[in-house]
Amino acid sequence: MSDTPIVRAEGLIKDFGDVRAVDDISFEIEEGEFFSLVGPSGCGKTTTLRMIAGFDRPTAGDIYIQDERVTRAPPYDRDTGMVFQGYALFPHKTVGKNVGFGLKMDGVPEDERAERVADVLELVDLPGYEDRYPSELSGGQQQRIALARALVIEPSVLLLDEPLSNLDLKLRKQMRFELQRIQQELGVTTIYVTHDQEEALSMSDRVLVMNEGEAEQIDDSLSIYNEPSTRFVADFIGEANLLEGTVVDRNETGIDVELDGVGMDARVETGNGDRIDRLSSGHEVTVSVRPENISLSRDVDGDPTRTNHVEGTIKSFTFLGKVTRFLIDVNGEEMLVEVPGRAGQQRFQNGQQVVVEWDPRESIVVGV
Ligand SMILES: Nc1ncnc2c1ncn2[C@@H]1O[C@H](COP(=O)(O)OP(=O)(O)O)[C@@H](O)[C@H]1O
Ligand SMILES: [Mg+2]
Repeated sequence: MSDTPIVRAEGLIKDFGDVRAVDDISFEIEEGEFFSLVGPSGCGKTTTLRMIAGFDRPTAGDIYIQDERVTRAPPYDRDTGMVFQGYALFPHKTVGKNVGFGLKMDGVPEDERAERVADVLELVDLPGYEDRYPSELSGGQQQRIALARALVIEPSVLLLDEPLSNLDLKLRKQMRFELQRIQQELGVTTIYVTHDQEEALSMSDRVLVMNEGEAEQIDDSLSIYNEPSTRFVADFIGEANLLEGTVVDRNETGIDVELDGVGMDARVETGNGDRIDRLSSGHEVTVSVRPENISLSRDVDGDPTRTNHVEGTIKSFTFLGKVTRFLIDVNGEEMLVEVPGRAGQQRFQNGQQVVVEWDPRESIVVGV
């Protein structure tokens, strides 16, 4: 394996008339990596993928595949295989002809074609399906055929546009494992587009979170979740209480923040610390706290020296089995708290006073 990234995007911009669909995106992908583009509908994921595949031409910026500049190369000259959202199978062609299409275009002789089609159908767990028609297959099977069609040409880079979005939840979760198995078995570099943050986190080595055409953060899944760098990422990936405040003090281990909205002083001690290094008194910040990192207790007169606690009133709660979700009114602001297992099932009541509390290491500064 070389140190050269297999895919490199440099300052990609794409305008459709007045709409800037992709706004200065850059990233590098290593060989064998599973890399996801995640973001809400309309943020520019498909456009980015289509530029890498060669179906859309960038307004500005460059794309390199294996160190070769391919910005203006047609799709068939790029060594990429793409699975389109909705699969785009040829309805009047058999599975064998659908899957073998790219090989035929490449002039691969019929014998070899048949063999390679049979092999890839085995890989996607549909051996012997050559003579069926797409309409005779379930959604999940059509999805595997679309994948087989992209893989049969043995591309250096596999591009997948929301490949699981047409499937029901259970099948979708099954197919995550299946896709990962195939990707790992082949070791093929993969760029995966999804609006589903859980899908992106669970499958990827690294994730690029997109918002309105821009890259908000590029990081491994754990960092994206535990150290979101912007308000948008904290909110879009998982759930977050976003609390506005002002830095009032700093010392060796962290900062103290006055959270005006919820009316409390909070301490912020992030693990790596470097994010808060630049902050000093007077800086306005947003502090993100995950609902599952907050605890509730009933006694309102606990140890007064504890930090990061505030009194609130239960507005409503929902028992969800594994967890109970609470909406807490804290001085007129709403906070979402998720309490697991038995602790969430104590006899709480609407209107009850509670203490909301979290560990200072769970306060993450976002959107400085
Ligand atoms: N061919 C096109 N012509 C005009 N506008 C387009 C075209 N394709 C995409 N767009 C616009 O570009 C933006 C990004 O679209 P897209 O890349 O499809 O987003 P996503 O895949 O994240 O949902 C949207 O505002 C969309 O309406
Ligand atoms: Mg899309």
